[in-house]
Amino acid sequence: MEDKLTEASITSGLDTAFIGRRIICHSKISSTMEVARNKVLEGAPEGTVVITDEQTAGKGRTGRVWSSPKGCIALSVILYPETAYLSSMIMIASLAVMHAIEHVAGLHPKIKWPNDILINGRKVCGILVESGVQGGRSNYAIIGIGINVNLEAAYLDAVSLKPTSLSDELGKEVSRLKLVRHLLFEMERLYITARNGETVYKEWRSNLETLGRTVNAKSGDNTYEGVAESVERDGSLMLRLMDGSLKRIVAGDVTLKH
Ligand code: BTN
Repeated sequence: MEDKLTEASITSGLDTAFIGRRIICHSKISSTMEVARNKVLEGAPEGTVVITDEQTAGKGRTGRVWSSPKGCIALSVILYPETAYLSSMIMIASLAVMHAIEHVAGLHPKIKWPNDILINGRKVCGILVESGVQGGRSNYAIIGIGINVNLEAAYLDAVSLKPTSLSDELGKEVSRLKLVRHLLFEMERLYITARNGETVYKEWRSNLETLGRTVNAKSGDNTYEGVAESVERDGSLMLRLMDGSLKRIVAGDVTLKH
């Protein structure tokens, strides 16, 4: 399938005002997160996207490695959100990926708290959000998205969850170009929507396959077993522990038990 990712192919006719108006394309780099962080230091405009066909040192959450061979999508989007919306970034990214996969591949992914995208219980996409304060003034958030598109997931490192890819699920290849373009469009739409109320939080919450399930939640050095009861507006997970108490997990990873 001919879907070369170039600045021109991605931006031409792209229906966004700022996300993806500036694209930095590579064929192979260490990590789009690293390049994006340097771009933030250089004062890159909001919506700048760093994208590559392959990464040699892709970063996952909690210090894990993320494999990004040919056929994947690996990109980072630079945003400068107000503090009140920082916690919405994982919601925006997960929903944008979900909608792009639905629209382009016709598959129906779910979200595993906080932001793994699963198809039939296997991980098709990982999201990493890094944020901080730029020059003591505005916040920055770098939204890193890795999607297994046209590749055999059996050859990927399965760190916590079994991986899958869109081509494995569909039995045919999917246009990476269409996916990237729709993803950027959805990210901008959701980013704007998140500023105007609770719609994004509610949609994210209703697509979490974690809620109601018994999980092991790893947070820092501790692991808690309980039922994932709800999620808060700031994205944290409320876990009903076996002794009946409620534990708030702000950041971590969950393993679905049953
Ligand atoms: C995870 O599930 O652990 C998060 C994986 C995030 C991977 C993406 S690929 C694009 C961006 N660049 C990186 O080095 N990591 C993120």
